[in-house]
Amino acid sequence: MEKRLLTLTVNGQEYELYINPKTLLVEAIRDHIGLTGTKRGCDTVSCGACTVMINGMSVKACSVLAMQADGARITTVEGLEVNGKLAPIQEAFLDQGAYQCGFCAPGMLMSAQALLNENPNPTEWEIREGIEGNICRCTGYNSIVRAIESVAKGKYTEVKS
Ligand code: FES
Ligand code: FES
Repeated sequence: MEKRLLTLTVNGQEYELYINPKTLLVEAIRDHIGLTGTKRGCDTVSCGACTVMINGMSVKACSVLAMQADGARITTVEGLEVNGKLAPIQEAFLDQGAYQCGFCAPGMLMSAQALLNENPNPTEWEIREGIEGNICRCTGYNSIVRAIESVAKGKYTEVKS
């Protein structure tokens, strides 16, 4: 199949890629751009490990073709940091013991940040709804909920130096 030109702005940097039009966005991010923080944990659009933001909205990057995101602004887990420092949501995950394995954590962080962007003061129910597309196969979600709540309550407004 003839390759097509794709332009993506990922974490503020513009990339031009020649790709097979059937390439998934998660493949473009990981295999073509080399940002491997975004994980591919299933083949059924069910785990959420591949969650990124497209123009500020959380999207499972295995559920869209890269070409569908042509011209879009993408944020991956690598783009959460602020001036080289962990973002508040990352600090909160650390403090609350919410970091889990390298597969589920990036997607959890992206869903959590997207939720807070959209709703800076979510209820516990809204938090649980916001991360329901992200599966951890090993443990509970309470520490993640606490971490998101603590950011919503303003505990992490300053990025630590
Ligand atoms: S890899 Fe996208 S939902 Fe599992
Ligand atoms: S899937 Fe990551 S800790 Fe369970």
